[in-house]
Amino acid sequence: MSKHDLLIIGAGLAGLRAAVEGVRQGLNVAVITKVHPVRSHSNAAQGGINAALTDRGDDWRDHAFSTIKGSDYLADQDAVEVMCREAGDAIIELENMGVIFSRDDEGKLGTRAFGGQKKARTYFVGAITGSALLHVLYEQSVKYNLHIYEEWFVTKLIKEDGRIAGAIAFDIKTGQMEMISAKAVVLATGGAGRVFEPSTNALICTGDGLSLAMQAGVPLMDTEMIQYHPTTLAGNGILLSEAARGDGAYLINSEGERFMEKYAPEYMELASRDVVSRAEQTEIDEGRGVDGCVFLDLRHLGKKFIEDRLGYLQEVALEFRGIDLSEKPIPIKPGMHYIMGGIKTDLNGATNVPGLYAAGECANVSVHGANRLGANSLLDTIVFGRRSAIESVEYIKSVKDVEIDPKELSREKSRIQSILDRPKGMRSAELRDKMGSTMTKGIGVWRDTESIKYAIEGMKSIRGQLPNVYVENKGKVFNTDLTSYLELEFMVDVAESICQGANARFESRGAHFRTDVTTRNDKDWLKHTIVEYNGEELNTSSEDVTITDWEPTERVY
Ligand code: FUM
Repeated sequence: MSKHDLLIIGAGLAGLRAAVEGVRQGLNVAVITKVHPVRSHSNAAQGGINAALTDRGDDWRDHAFSTIKGSDYLADQDAVEVMCREAGDAIIELENMGVIFSRDDEGKLGTRAFGGQKKARTYFVGAITGSALLHVLYEQSVKYNLHIYEEWFVTKLIKEDGRIAGAIAFDIKTGQMEMISAKAVVLATGGAGRVFEPSTNALICTGDGLSLAMQAGVPLMDTEMIQYHPTTLAGNGILLSEAARGDGAYLINSEGERFMEKYAPEYMELASRDVVSRAEQTEIDEGRGVDGCVFLDLRHLGKKFIEDRLGYLQEVALEFRGIDLSEKPIPIKPGMHYIMGGIKTDLNGATNVPGLYAAGECANVSVHGANRLGANSLLDTIVFGRRSAIESVEYIKSVKDVEIDPKELSREKSRIQSILDRPKGMRSAELRDKMGSTMTKGIGVWRDTESIKYAIEGMKSIRGQLPNVYVENKGKVFNTDLTSYLELEFMVDVAESICQGANARFESRGAHFRTDVTTRNDKDWLKHTIVEYNGEELNTSSEDVTITDWEPTERVY
């Protein structure tokens, strides 16, 4: 059995930032990841990373206010303060590590505007910011000679005496299953986009960490808060970055109108994402769309500008639709992009299980509340990835090695074998598709009591069919048939928790817009929803939101 001080599950930006910090703090750190680190979904983040740099005349408090307003006042304000205060140092540190941020005409770090903010404070690398950051952090991990379990699949967290003791995982390349002992574990497994279809998320975003945490007795918070990004490509849901609108692109309907004038006269296309997505959906529902889409129009920006600053979008448009963005508007619609809710943590990533931390999209610290601002997610990964590793140091020093019951491994091996031994039945892809369409229909841009009930019932039926799923490939090497099934089990846990959160919150706030109760209700619902698994069923409760300086007011853009 391998032993480490700190085991980080996931090698995206949150995981690698935590790992680098852990090594710097003198810990024996290992990262375990089901894909090569630079194939992590952070790679797909396009538009940028927010920070208010004081020497640019910016103020972290303004960034904090925009974030809190963007969250529809559901974010915990102490957490937002931490993130926005630390943002400036985080950007400079990334630059010092080697991120080649795009520059302005004077050669200084350039910024672009992003939604929900008055000030242009999004630092970027063309439209491949996540990829640039991820490669630099991967370089750091090579520099520090980090131990990486690459292409390993975690099936279970191990707890002993109520505290974390490590994880059980198998090497996807050989099928060999092992127990990995660790005094502390950081979950940095990213989002759960594939619970919905379509989604902007990579196929690997299957909510593994959320499910592992839930199974270990950690509550999830605000799971109903699912972000629909306003500009996803017609047909396949590929993200077309908000950077386009930040750099001046328009949204138009079938009549060529810039319809955001009606919905957000001040911010127009740069209102918060939930507001823009609802505006688009209204246009489509009222017959001013084409084939279920409206259009993103960049023609006035000109070919050179598009290719210089938004080259990646031009590539996607040409490759997938044969559209040159300088010549023709491109059809887009709101698409599932991000889960604001997640594993409940404190300001340092600690969960209720001693030694277990979470950071990045799988965690809910909570800085995004009911709607995340674009370019705050990369910031969240960097700030809270680092903080979770720092927080683990004292804990790791204070605890002795734990003895893990060897039966843990044999029980898990038997569980996996029993899945492989199932008689012929249905395939996991069939259930996965059903889950995706059920969740998109039930927990969409709009939802109501009926649609939520539809999703709850649908997920109950899908859960009931899980034992009928058959894994045809019995092999040990790269058995993606098996990993797809195990991912489906994770996603079903997450989907059910999303349904429970949505069912509990009887108001409209941010991304959770109920057509049967269309207003925000601060009197009863300035609260987080909490969903917890007690070993048999999911329990739902609520907790107060932390307010510091910003009293909730009406949210207008
Ligand atoms: O539109 C985008 O570039 C996405 C950014 C984000 O979700 O933060």
